[in-house]
Amino acid sequence: MTAPETLLQVEDLRVSFATEEGVVRAVDGITFTVQAGEVLAIVGESGSGKSVSVMTLMGLTRGQNARFEGKAMFDGRDLIAASDAELRKVRGAAIAMVFQDPMSSLDPVYRIGAQIIEQIRVHEPKVSKAQALDRAVDLMERVGIPRARDRVRSYPHEFSGGMRQRVMIAMALANSPKLLIADEPTTALAVPIQAQILDELRRLRDQTGAGIILVTHDLGVVADIADRIAVMYAGRIVEQGTLEDLFYDPQHPYTWGLLGSITRVDRNRAGKLPAIPGQPPSLLAPPEGCHFRPRCPHAFDRCTELPELVSRLPEAPEHPDRCWLEPERKRTLRQVGDQIGLATGETVIS
Ligand SMILES: Nc1ncnc2c1ncn2[C@@H]1O[C@H](COP(=O)(O)OP(=O)(O)O)[C@@H](O)[C@H]1O
Ligand code: SF4
Ligand SMILES: [Mg+2]
Repeated sequence: MTAPETLLQVEDLRVSFATEEGVVRAVDGITFTVQAGEVLAIVGESGSGKSVSVMTLMGLTRGQNARFEGKAMFDGRDLIAASDAELRKVRGAAIAMVFQDPMSSLDPVYRIGAQIIEQIRVHEPKVSKAQALDRAVDLMERVGIPRARDRVRSYPHEFSGGMRQRVMIAMALANSPKLLIADEPTTALAVPIQAQILDELRRLRDQTGAGIILVTHDLGVVADIADRIAVMYAGRIVEQGTLEDLFYDPQHPYTWGLLGSITRVDRNRAGKLPAIPGQPPSLLAPPEGCHFRPRCPHAFDRCTELPELVSRLPEAPEHPDRCWLEPERKRTLRQVGDQIGLATGETVIS
């Protein structure tokens, strides 16, 4: 077997925004890689810096009030230092992006087919319109749109939300990207449609060997599709590992909270419980040391120091986390009854 090809290498990326209230440290030193043919899921509550991280890779957070540090190497070039013109060439072609709301990216006055054809020909001007039309039909079939040959003539409003998201994925694939970034691609969709869209993403990964970054606030969504997971909290990665690492031996109390809320939903207890009591900290003035400290029932004196993102597990050097607790202590504390969760005052079972 040949070693997997590293597509993207992000090193100590920091993004801050100067606002009237002060400096918002939206992304505070994140490091990760994406290999060809793998799905990396970035998971965390709303406001944890997921979208700012991935939009920065595409140059979409550039502006007067934004400041960047760190590197993001893709195809031999640093996306953070690249010029706007260089990034325009990469964006939509070698790196494609799918957003939560397809309506904001589709033009309501043009037929679906015309928009896919345009996407193909912007990056590949030598392709004729007829060839591009054939490719558009083929792409629509590949993402599971029935009767694609007829439906290229439809307008966006004639498609359901799920079908529009399939069109967005077809457009994202139009120029055979090496890396596909999907930011909450299923969040606005009904649950059965979510599963279909994730199936399509997985199939495309298998067929094309593209790397995928899947951003979501819902750890349950990634259980069937992610190869590796990075958990983000308040602008930092707090735990990273394979799907098995994160689901079966999670090391960070915040991950336990995310896992606990999925299990409870599966068990159909009354309604969807909040993942973790309390609110994420303000990114204007986050707490010193471990950012999770104000919400962590297991916090102790050392937690006012910042825990590095390192593996504390000799058997799993590729499974780092940012929590000071000893691994054996974690394995005891995360067990809440017969499931993994974040014990609170009410749920502690001794
Ligand atoms: N242009 C901006 N100026 C100031 N703050 C911003 C800007 N863009 C994002 N933020 C802040 O950065 C934080 C992270 O946002 P975001 O990455 O969108 O979170 P997520 O995608 O995880 O929900 C939020 O607190 C958000 O308000
Ligand atoms: S470092 Fe301390 S506060 Fe942070 S998650 Fe671990 S125990 Fe909780
Ligand atoms: Mg977001």
